[in-house]
Amino acid sequence: MGKDVIIACDFASAKATYTFLDNFTDTKPFVKIGMELFYAEGPEIVKNIKARGHKIFLDLKLHDIPNTVKKSMAVLSQFDIDMINIHAAGTKPMMEAALEGLIRRDGTRPILIAVTQLTSTDEETMRKDLLIDKSIDEVVIHYALNAKRSGLDGVVCSPLEAEKVHNLCGKEFLTVTPGIRFADSEAGDQKRIMTPTEAKKIGSDYIVVGRPITAAKDPVSVYNRCVAEFVD
Ligand code: C5P
Repeated sequence: MGKDVIIACDFASAKATYTFLDNFTDTKPFVKIGMELFYAEGPEIVKNIKARGHKIFLDLKLHDIPNTVKKSMAVLSQFDIDMINIHAAGTKPMMEAALEGLIRRDGTRPILIAVTQLTSTDEETMRKDLLIDKSIDEVVIHYALNAKRSGLDGVVCSPLEAEKVHNLCGKEFLTVTPGIRFADSEAGDQKRIMTPTEAKKIGSDYIVVGRPITAAKDPVSVYNRCVAEFVD
């Protein structure tokens, strides 16, 4: 499984997304479609971006009873997506059901990864709202191990956690890491950040980069810089 840079296409409409993707004439980057765009435009956006030749990570973070997740995954895997995710908090039976639902008739399936603990949740919120009395690290590792034992391919995590996840779950267990910034660029609302070079060093398998590319004057050159630092 090759390392790659995934662009978070956090746009509100199909039009804005296509205008952005039109910048890329020589390469067809791996793109992430999130809830906002999918809910606004429906399955058509996935089909159209696929038809343009991009790999797609459908970031819908499913979390429901196992039967509902399994049936929803069976629908979503028909869109010819390459990667999709669920919440590890849905527990092992839900993760196993998701995996089962994803398998297509021809035996293929997209990569399935789990969200461990959202980076917007800190230890205090876990304690107060979720009544979880453990450290974030312990929870992330426990959820990652649950995901691995359920047969998933990897997790979304902070680049700061990727090394630990690999040490415990194995090198082949994928770490997909957002929170990427260049040393000389704005961090925005991301707090726990790393450069593409650092993410490569600690062994991330995929980096997810949004605003540093989508808000750039020259998105293609910023994307190329990410690839040069992270992949090449
Ligand atoms: O613009 P930026 O590079 O911060 O975008 C990062 C992308 O990764 C966004 O789509 C964000 O929702 C997503 N993400 C994240 N942190 C997580 C999970 C997903 O930033 N823990």
